[in-house]
Amino acid sequence: MSQHFSSPPRLIMGDGALEQLGRELPRLGTKVLIITDPGIVAAGILDVVTTVLQGTLDIAVFADVIGNPDIATVEAANRARLENAADVLIAIGGGSSMDVAKAVAVVATNGGTIADYEGVDKFSTAPLPVIAIPTTVGSGSEVTKGAVITNPDTHVKMVIVSDLMFVRIALLDRRTVAGLPGRIAATTGMDALTHAIEAYVAKGANPVTDAINIGAIELIGQNLLDASKGDEDALYNMLVASSMAGIGFHDAGLGAVHALANTLGAHFGVHHGTANALFLPYVMDFNVSAAPARFARIATALGIDTTGLSDEDAALAAAAAVHQLAADTGVPTKLSEVGVGEDAIDKLARDAFVQADLPGNPREASLADLAHLYRLAL
Ligand SMILES: [Fe+2]
Repeated sequence: MSQHFSSPPRLIMGDGALEQLGRELPRLGTKVLIITDPGIVAAGILDVVTTVLQGTLDIAVFADVIGNPDIATVEAANRARLENAADVLIAIGGGSSMDVAKAVAVVATNGGTIADYEGVDKFSTAPLPVIAIPTTVGSGSEVTKGAVITNPDTHVKMVIVSDLMFVRIALLDRRTVAGLPGRIAATTGMDALTHAIEAYVAKGANPVTDAINIGAIELIGQNLLDASKGDEDALYNMLVASSMAGIGFHDAGLGAVHALANTLGAHFGVHHGTANALFLPYVMDFNVSAAPARFARIATALGIDTTGLSDEDAALAAAAAVHQLAADTGVPTKLSEVGVGEDAIDKLARDAFVQADLPGNPREASLADLAHLYRLAL
C-alpha cells in the first residue's frame, strides 16, 4: 500500500509571530471575519489579536463557537461571513473554532451545507483562505487537512477531509497560550499525545511521519506536566509539539483511541482531549502485540529507561507512563468521572465500530474488543 505525506501549511512561530499578520493578510483578502469562542474573548486573547491588526483590514467577529461544534454553528458563522462580505477568515481558538472556520471556508465557495461534504474529497472548489491561531495545545487542526463537525441528528462526528482544506498560515505565538488554564493544557495536551502515539503505530505510518511523531512524543513528554502547571515555556513548547503531532497524524492516520473518543464526544459531549486520555493507556496495552518494537520506541521517547527490558515490557511501561501522566495532570481517568455508565457501552461500541479512525488501528478490533475497552475505562 502506498504511503503519503502532504506538506502542511506555512508555520510562523515564536516571538513576534502575530505581528506577521499585518503583512500576510492583505495578500489573502480585503475583509476579515474572525471566528472564535466566548472563552477567548473573556480571556483577552481576541483583544491581543485585534490590537495587532488595528489599521490593516476591515474586521468583523463571530464569537459563538461551541465545543464539539455542530452544523448549526457552521451555518451561524457562515451567515456572519455573508453579512460582512468577508473573503478571508481568521480562526482563533482550539480545534472547535479552527474546524468551524475551515468548514465555513468550504461552504462559502461550494454552497450547500457542510453535511454535503462529509467524507474525503467531496468538494471541488478551493475554500476561502483561512489563517489559524491556535490557543490550546492539542487539536492540531491548524495543520491538518480536515474538520470534524457534529451532526446532531445522527450523533455522528462528521469528518470532512480534502487536500484543499489546509489553512494558508498557522501562527504559533506564545501570547495565545500564556494564560491557558492548567486543566485545558492537560486535556488538549493529552489529545496531542494521542495523535502522535496513535499515528506512530498506525497502518499509514511512514518514515516521514515517524520522525515527526517521535519528535512530538519527546517534546510532549518533557513539557506536558509543566504546561499543566502554567509554565509559559512549557506551554509554548506544547503549542509547537501539538502542531508537530497534527502534521504527523493527518496522513499516517489514527486508531481505536480516536474511534472510542469521538463516539463518546458525539453522544455525551465529553471534551475531546479528556475522552482520548480515558482510553489511550488501555488501547496502547491492547495494541502492543501488533507493534511491540514501535511501542518500545515510544517508551524511550517518553524518557523511560528501557535498558534490559523486552520490547513488550518496554511497551507496557510506556502505557503505564501515559496513564500516570494523565493522572498527574489531573485529567479524568474514569468514565464515571464524566457521567457515563455501563448502560451506554453497547451503543457506544456499535458506533465506535464504524467510526472513520478505526481502520488505521494496528490491531484489528472487534465489536466485543471495543466494548471491552470502554468497560476498562468505567
Ligand atoms: Fe484528536
